[in-house]
Amino acid sequence: MSVHFIGAGPGAPDLITVRGRDLVARCPVCLYAGSLVPPGIIALCPPEARVINTAPMDLDAIEAEYVRAHEAGLDVARLHSGDMSVWSAMGEQLRRLEARGIAYTITPGVPAFAAAAAALGREFTLPEVAQSLVLTRTSGRASAMPEAEKLEAFAATGATLAIHLSIHVLDDVVERLIPHYRADCPVAIVYRASWPDERILRGTLETISAIHAKDPVERTALIVVGRVLGASDFRDSALYDAGYHRRYRSGGGDGGTDDGGAGA
Ligand SMILES: C[S@@+](CC[C@H](N)C(=O)[O-])C[C@H]1O[C@@H](n2cnc3c(N)ncnc32)[C@H](O)[C@@H]1O
Repeated sequence: MSVHFIGAGPGAPDLITVRGRDLVARCPVCLYAGSLVPPGIIALCPPEARVINTAPMDLDAIEAEYVRAHEAGLDVARLHSGDMSVWSAMGEQLRRLEARGIAYTITPGVPAFAAAAAALGREFTLPEVAQSLVLTRTSGRASAMPEAEKLEAFAATGATLAIHLSIHVLDDVVERLIPHYRADCPVAIVYRASWPDERILRGTLETISAIHAKDPVERTALIVVGRVLGASDFRDSALYDAGYHRRYRSGGGDGGTDDGGAGA
């Protein structure tokens, strides 16, 4: 028996991995994280499966379900939105499973930031514009940000920012970022990327609050900030440069170890 943690992806039911889909389809127990896991993925569960929405449950109650399945020898599909490596509360569940000696596996999923990039039709890293993407959030009621991870600290790098769990404090985010990115820096708000009701608001740090106030979105939205959103005159990457090809590709070897190979 194992608990299989599975990234359900950002919303569209066909954005789960093949491995994740197959696990959901064969596990007799499925626990899923409330409103962010789409009905189309829950529909993959076997007809006789025990299917539980964990949104109203606390950690003890979730653990009790794992123990119950363990005692019955039943595999569990545990679905979380996006990928579980960020803001999934998987860590505390793994700790409890380890303490009880219950086996688990982890199957990654498509995270919200990747779905947002696809919705925007943008690459979040461009040569000489930004080479880093920061996945971050602002302080919430449940979790304060560590002092060194304040928005201003990341903003000082000029990296592309994908700000989660923060649409309700948009004005504050904008005010804190303007000194670093300047008022004309492009911003996009991507609401429910890949869901049927996906929406995109585009503006700059100067205009986005007014644009959002006219047509507000709540909760499941990402705020993306960075010059990559507006850049069109960036230089080509080395990856498909003819000189780079001659040097690293003609021999039919492994393409060298330069990071330029990462996107090939
Ligand atoms: C608890 S976090 C979960 C993140 C998730 N584990 C991931 O891999 O993206 C929830 C936040 O992620 C963002 N989010 C999740 N799904 C999204 C989507 N489909 N479109 C836009 N933002 C999304 C929103 O900022 C939301 O408040």
